[in-house]
Amino acid sequence: MAEAPLLQREMDRVRAEIDALFEELLAPPADPRARLYEAMRYAAIGGGKRLRPLLVVAACALFHADRSRALRVAAAVECIHVYSLIHDDLPSMDDDELRRGKPTVHRAFDEACAILAGDSLHALAFEILADEATHEDPFVRIELVAELARAAGPAGMAGGQMMDLNAAAAGLDLPGVTRLQQLKTGALIAFCLEAGAIMGRLPVEGRTRFRGYARDVGLAFQIADDLLDEEGSEARTGKRVGKDRDRGKETFVSLLGRDRARQQAELLVRQAIEYLDRYGAEADLLREIARFAVERDH
Ligand code: IPE
Ligand code: IPE
Ligand code: MG
Ligand code: MG
Ligand code: MG
Repeated sequence: MAEAPLLQREMDRVRAEIDALFEELLAPPADPRARLYEAMRYAAIGGGKRLRPLLVVAACALFHADRSRALRVAAAVECIHVYSLIHDDLPSMDDDELRRGKPTVHRAFDEACAILAGDSLHALAFEILADEATHEDPFVRIELVAELARAAGPAGMAGGQMMDLNAAAAGLDLPGVTRLQQLKTGALIAFCLEAGAIMGRLPVEGRTRFRGYARDVGLAFQIADDLLDEEGSEARTGKRVGKDRDRGKETFVSLLGRDRARQQAELLVRQAIEYLDRYGAEADLLREIARFAVERDH
């Protein structure tokens, strides 16, 4: 799929900036911890769509926050995301061997190393946010830390992963799957927009519409993930496909069928874009990201 020029340009830019930041943060030491750093670098550098960092940067730009600071927040979210992928792929979870087009961390290194690489990226996320270089105001830093912790923990991603592990046995209905996905994927995506509002010091009353945008994009993004698992290609997604069906997991696709799942995702994207209607061209990147969330083939 040919991506819109603005989106393509901004994605490439964020990808290079995040890679450079990780290069700097993850320089391997000359001692036995080097292997841990190598595993973190293997997972975090040079792969993935960088959708969450792009959302952070786009939201921060809309609220006039400084780009180099926005990139630190973007790297923090990506640390949590990459850690969640490393652990998601472990034999005790999804037991996957391919991620971002290469062997998963526990395959390329070993399981203990993969667990520690995930743990370390999790910790690094909060270390980045707590640093003065992210924002001079400690209240802003604390708000970022608290919101990311909430989005990653039992009320967010980890809670959603717990529900997901149970999903095959639970016989979930549509509201059940929606709740699961809002925690598993939605919470971290919602943080990306919230972070922009926090960095730009947007008053809480002004955040409602962005929360609406984030909720709809997050859900649409996960429906697209479920569709790609059903009909995407391993070469494009860089991960094994058909795994939800193999595991008998209820997803949007298993419950609605492909056509209705796609229609639902498209509806959510239109709705997300409507939340931005009071903005002009300065919100075009967020509009393009919303479209990309469902039109993507990887
Ligand atoms: C995959 O996320 C896992 C989900 C939460 C759906 P992405 O599709 O954003 O994975 P990368 O970062 O591009 O590898
Ligand atoms: C994982 O969801 C979401 C995370 C929080 C890591 P999936 O298990 O569906 O993600 P993929 O399909 O392996 O990327
Ligand atoms: Mg999983
Ligand atoms: Mg998985
Ligand atoms: Mg999936």
